[in-house]
Amino acid sequence: MPLGKRINLSVKEAASQRDKDILTHTSPDSVKVGNNDGNTVFTLFQSAEPQCSFNDIILNSDTYDAIQDVLTLYEKRELIFDKWGLKNTHKNQNRAGINLYGPSGTGKSVTAHAIAAQVGRKILTVDYSQIESKYVGETSKNLATLFEYAKESKSIIFFDEADALLSRRVNNMSNSTDVSVNQTRSVLLMLINEFDDLILFASNFITNYDPAFMRRILAHIKFELPDEISRFKLWRMYIPETMPTNVDIRALAAKYNGVSGADISNAVLNASLRAARLEQATVRHTYFEEAIEMIIHSKDDNDELGTFASRRTVSEDYVKTQFKGELTKR
Ligand SMILES: Nc1ncnc2c1ncn2[C@@H]1O[C@H](COP(=O)(O)OP(=O)(O)OP(=O)(O)O)[C@@H](O)[C@H]1O
Ligand SMILES: [Mg+2]
Repeated sequence: MPLGKRINLSVKEAASQRDKDILTHTSPDSVKVGNNDGNTVFTLFQSAEPQCSFNDIILNSDTYDAIQDVLTLYEKRELIFDKWGLKNTHKNQNRAGINLYGPSGTGKSVTAHAIAAQVGRKILTVDYSQIESKYVGETSKNLATLFEYAKESKSIIFFDEADALLSRRVNNMSNSTDVSVNQTRSVLLMLINEFDDLILFASNFITNYDPAFMRRILAHIKFELPDEISRFKLWRMYIPETMPTNVDIRALAAKYNGVSGADISNAVLNASLRAARLEQATVRHTYFEEAIEMIIHSKDDNDELGTFASRRTVSEDYVKTQFKGELTKR
């Protein structure tokens, strides 16, 4: 299931653009950046119709209920805050920033689309790390444009892969990159503060979050790997009824835990490829087992390499503080 368009700028485009007067053209569907003669160079932000609904997603019941609780705040805002008077007792708590966090492939990004679909709005997906790294000088301006455009186009802003954005600001600034990263985060905090609407975030880790961002997000909702009931539903959803197969879905769900929705979807595809290549009349149960086992093994290898990493530019001083002065030059 492909997701919404990300902002995709090449470094070259961004660099050459900085040298010119940057003109942004806002239309109901997008914000485009153009040069002086009016030619569009690239699309900066684009809102899109949500690409799935909660009917397409299988979530553990705790996660689903937590999402629906926060959405009540959004959907019944008038009743709770205006009519029941919580606007007087709970000032500034009617904002609905939602952070979806948890392991990769558990459906955070698709859920953001489903939330937008449920509240009947378009979605504006932003990959913040791309804006920050390629647009250092222009980031603050672009962020202001983003929030304006979201308001005008009535779209829900979705900061996907928001780990870098939500992590702590650099304390020990010693170069211009640190300074401008902190500046843009501060601008973003201000914009979020003033924005009276739902904002969605998705991230893998909840550790090392900047407390200032934590405070502005109303709910952090954890996505776990699917339990056995969810795994059963996922296998059933991803294996088409029209597929000729002797698969035992109940057995697959019971035998293979520690797999995500994305793993199950990939395993079904891989099993089908194997059967088609071998010109089998049915996609055999064993093909599904082999496919999911291969995925589990590759994930194990990946974990052993300790590859849970995110990249962020920090100063040398900052690195030294992390290593408590034990950093030696090679
Ligand atoms: N809970 C789920 N229900 C249905 N499909 C799912 C679920 N989780 C994952 N998938 C499938 O896996 C794909 C990847 O899921 P998604 O991109 O939403 O994961 P993610 O949690 O955002 O992962 P990452 O942290 O790597 O960005 C989806 O397009 C969907 O096909
Ligand atoms: Mg994602």
